[in-house]
Amino acid sequence: MALRRPVRQITDGGLSDARSAAIAMADPTSGPSASVAAIPKAELHVHLEGTAKPELVQRLAARNGLALPSGLLHDHETFAWRDFPDFLKTYDLAASAIRTAQDYRDVVLTYLSDCAAEGAVYVELIASPDHARAVGLTEEEHRAGIFQGIDDARAAHEIEGRVLVSVVRHLGVEAAERTAAEAAAMAHPYVVGFNMAGDEAGFPPPPFTRAFEIAHDAGLGCTVHAGEHAGPESVRQALALPGVTRLSHGVRAVEEPELVRRLADGGIALEVCPTSNVALGVYPDYAAHPFGALRAAGVAVTLGSDDPPYFGASIGGEYGVAAEHFGLDDAALLELTRTALRASFADDDLKQELLERVRSAADGVPCEKGA
Ligand code: ADE
Ligand code: ZN
Repeated sequence: MALRRPVRQITDGGLSDARSAAIAMADPTSGPSASVAAIPKAELHVHLEGTAKPELVQRLAARNGLALPSGLLHDHETFAWRDFPDFLKTYDLAASAIRTAQDYRDVVLTYLSDCAAEGAVYVELIASPDHARAVGLTEEEHRAGIFQGIDDARAAHEIEGRVLVSVVRHLGVEAAERTAAEAAAMAHPYVVGFNMAGDEAGFPPPPFTRAFEIAHDAGLGCTVHAGEHAGPESVRQALALPGVTRLSHGVRAVEEPELVRRLADGGIALEVCPTSNVALGVYPDYAAHPFGALRAAGVAVTLGSDDPPYFGASIGGEYGVAAEHFGLDDAALLELTRTALRASFADDDLKQELLERVRSAADGVPCEKGA
């Protein structure tokens, strides 16, 4: 008889009275049009642990002999959270079911397979060594699982994935510098960038200058969550960090026209996640979202799903939102993909190869071509 592992409780990080995400948005799940489905897509902003759907989290928990806390899910189907701080707690709880290199491989392969089915050719995955460390994985095991997932997805679906190492700002400066040093020391062609996530309003950028210096000196592309849950001052401080050429979100820069001009003139690309922004209450609805205003001002905008199952998002869904709510035609959607590939931290050969794939695909898209 096979030995059953004892059921352990995943520690509850304070989730209480969790309620449905109540994602009050126009419906991105109604499915993109046929022409949007045919657009080759690129995603620069998605958190790796945040890609695992409830079904996968439950499967991994069972495989690892873990009991999920009762408040984590609604009806076994939806992650339960009520606001941004609560979302971060739910995210940590769900992430703690991902325990082994095999788990990481499965999470990456599952997500990249879903993206490929929606037409994505390139995805940058934001990976958090702090989450892996919290469940006892070494950084070698963490990476081995992610890299295997990327290799398996390429073999099965011709999609490319790359990794951005992320630090969690509310874990503090010391942890950030340690993780940056670890990322710098373990050079690998799949690890192309560095990011900082977590509680933006409570942990402004300046004390993290050294962490970004370490990452930038190691040749990693740098981006940082800013202008999501804090305003223009946070964006300005993020731009002062060493090596930053992109911003995760950055949308609240729109509150200051001079800052928007600076982003446009400086070629700072924004990883815009409209459905996440609406779900987390940064904007009440798509109509209030500044995607269109930023794009019209000449800012390099790209699309991301952030934490897809938490927000009812997907990269294909975000392209659909851009078409339906921001008025982008197929040519403009193709240009979003080119912008993302150019702003990506992939090496030049891969960028050229992917841009060529987009060019060929554009020949088959029934629209005025911008290639
Ligand atoms: N970690 C996961 N999702 C995040 C988000 N949208 N903002 C900041 N940190 C995050
Ligand atoms: Zn994010």
